[in-house]
Amino acid sequence: RIPIILDGDPGHDDAIAWVLAKGSPMLDIRGVTSVCGNQTIEKTTYNAQRICTLIDLHVPTAMGRLRPLISDPIIAPTVHGESGLDGPALPEPDFELEDMDAVTLMAKLIQESDEPITLVPTGPLTNVAALLMAYPELKEKIARISLMGGGVQYGNWTPAAEFNILVDPEAAAVVFESGIPIIMAGLDVTEKAMIFPEDFERIRALGNHVAVIVADWLEFFYQFHRSLGYEGAPVHDAVAVAALLRPEIMESQDLYVQVETAGDFCKGATVADFNGALGKAPNAKVLMGIDRQAFVDLLAEAIATYGEG
Ligand code: BDR
Ligand code: CA
Repeated sequence: RIPIILDGDPGHDDAIAWVLAKGSPMLDIRGVTSVCGNQTIEKTTYNAQRICTLIDLHVPTAMGRLRPLISDPIIAPTVHGESGLDGPALPEPDFELEDMDAVTLMAKLIQESDEPITLVPTGPLTNVAALLMAYPELKEKIARISLMGGGVQYGNWTPAAEFNILVDPEAAAVVFESGIPIIMAGLDVTEKAMIFPEDFERIRALGNHVAVIVADWLEFFYQFHRSLGYEGAPVHDAVAVAALLRPEIMESQDLYVQVETAGDFCKGATVADFNGALGKAPNAKVLMGIDRQAFVDLLAEAIATYGEG
């Protein structure tokens, strides 16, 4: 089993990523941490606790930093609602947070582990960067970072930048320059990881308590995307988990990627050196394509593990 830490800003697609992770026997979730992004840290932390309660994920859970490293916070209520996870009613948290912050918890879990840990950040990279800066000696105990963020062709929050990277570009730069192997699930692949309305019904029909909520989350998430002309819901964050489970259903390119931290138009862009102009070794496996049907099947399989309905 692959030991992982889930770090996210739930968020509908973060929530579905965590449902996928918990429903996948190959993954051993050692801890959960929240980060500010889609909503304030108070809201994403509360959502994290409610999701963990829903899916019976009782592992050490801690709250992340209050704000990005340097930049001012940006939130995304138009996408995820005022709560950060609007839509179906969720259970109230049935467990307490750890009495330490996210970075301390991550460090502790990595230190205590016999094997290197994989980090799966699906929000801004604030906590991960803070961890690498405070505990550089732990880098060798991080097997890889499978992240949702960026896009080597275009952005979504600005023409050049994807939301997670734009919110904390300095943090993203620290992560991409860390030397730790990176799997980058950016918009290049995540916009192809589309779940269509007929798939929502297939998921709902699995009938268990998680299936029904995931279908409702997808409906909610789709409403926003439909207004932009999408034919389904791009479940971005779940690709960062799927990449660990089924790498063979993805197409990828090894590239050297830099994060633009300034600029009038391109702050938060992930700039890939396709032509090798800089002569640098690749620092990221950039996912470019996915077998959509296999992705939906994988998600459905994971959701079915929550019960017969
Ligand atoms: C990313 O931004 C957030 O709104 C989603 O949860 C995802 O992590 C997509 O750009
Ligand atoms: Ca997210």
